[in-house]
Amino acid sequence: MASKPRTVWRCQQCGATAPRWLGRCNECGEYGSLVEEFERPDVPERAAGRSASPVTLAQLASEKDTERLSTGIAEFDRVLGGGLVKGSLVLLGGEPGIGKSTLLLQVAEALAARGLRVLYVSGEESPQQIALRARRIGASAESLFLLPEVDIDAVEGVVSETQPDLLVVDSIQTATDAELSGAAGSVGQVRACTARLMRIAKDRGVATLIIGHVTKEGSIAGPRVLEHMVDAVLYFEGDQDHAFRVVRAVKNRFGSTSEVGIFEMLERGLCPVDAPSAALLADHAASVAGSVVLATVEGSRPLLVEIQALVSPSYLPAPRRLANGVDTGRLLQVLAILERRAGLSFGGQDVYVNVAGGLRITEPAADLPLALALASALLDVPVAENVAAFGELALTGSVRPVAHVEARLRECARMGRTKVLGSTRTQGPSGGGLRGVDTLAEALADLRLSRA
Ligand code: TYD
Ligand code: MG
Repeated sequence: MASKPRTVWRCQQCGATAPRWLGRCNECGEYGSLVEEFERPDVPERAAGRSASPVTLAQLASEKDTERLSTGIAEFDRVLGGGLVKGSLVLLGGEPGIGKSTLLLQVAEALAARGLRVLYVSGEESPQQIALRARRIGASAESLFLLPEVDIDAVEGVVSETQPDLLVVDSIQTATDAELSGAAGSVGQVRACTARLMRIAKDRGVATLIIGHVTKEGSIAGPRVLEHMVDAVLYFEGDQDHAFRVVRAVKNRFGSTSEVGIFEMLERGLCPVDAPSAALLADHAASVAGSVVLATVEGSRPLLVEIQALVSPSYLPAPRRLANGVDTGRLLQVLAILERRAGLSFGGQDVYVNVAGGLRITEPAADLPLALALASALLDVPVAENVAAFGELALTGSVRPVAHVEARLRECARMGRTKVLGSTRTQGPSGGGLRGVDTLAEALADLRLSRA
């Protein structure tokens, strides 16, 4: 019988080890930082015969490109940088109920329908439950194997038996290594199981997709602790009450991280969205104050999204500032700029900001439309329907240029936005509806958003 590998409790702060769990590290004094690990970390043994000699780039250049499996779901391939790489380990994170299992079952089905062998391991649902979902998305491929299993040893056994081209593990929080005493989902378990899956993927050349849950607060033992261990990390964005879903790469060893996939959750699973701007602006009501269209760029794609603001008298000693889809810190900064550079005070007012469609906007180009929406809401003056805006706001109140201006203007023209507020210092062809502004005050005056 093989001897049981010894485990130790290692401090994640200083690396000190203890033979058993301690609430506080004896070395560095950190609380709650001890995680159970194998004493000898699971380093893959060098395969017999594999040389340790270095290779030149020229030698590698003659080899053919990384082999990619196209999933047939164009939006998903796009995020991955052109399909799944053989032997790669990809983590898909997202809040519960957002559609992770649905997307990966669709990917599994698409590959299986082309005759590839797919193993879908689920520790969350019974095969009957998966079959229900499969019926909704119309999956019925012959070579799609379902395995209800949480034990990582058993999974490895089945992988070596069935030799799949794609392995899906739903989810990493349910996977357990029996050698570790920690509960499923603990940092130690999640890390050990991911390390094991990485070895399975690399040794056998299986493209492996793992699902990881993230909570609203970030996460305990979630995908965050795994990001550095895997080849690519994709995150699902969007809110459950809205059909829109964005899949974004935050790390990708085989492609860029700037591309996103845009989907809509329908009755028959996730469907790619062909004209996202049109769909996002579908219920845009221009006659209501507090709504301004942002011309943003996601990856290489321009996208028009509506930024909504609501300002109402506050009955609280410290008025509320609530932001959905934009960073709260950014909102506070824009409010301060409005107050000091445009004389618009939000004191005594609750402020709510929302990005339509549940999208999350991180680029600073949202500053200007956000400021305009806030001013429009405060003054109760609607912004005309043909207006869009983009631009970063400096603390001085000046409007700074942003990238991809041409693409933004093209999308605005396509969607009938004939007046686009942006920086005058923008490079590239002017015209195309661009209304250059130097400062926030100038933009506000242009839209008649100032106190008379
Ligand atoms: P699911 O993939 O189970 O989410 P996750 O694995 O991320 O927790 O699906 C989440 C939701 O999607 C669920 O509330 C039902 C809904 N849904 C549809 O609207 N249409 C469909 O075709 C499917 C399969 C699910
Ligand atoms: Mg699920």
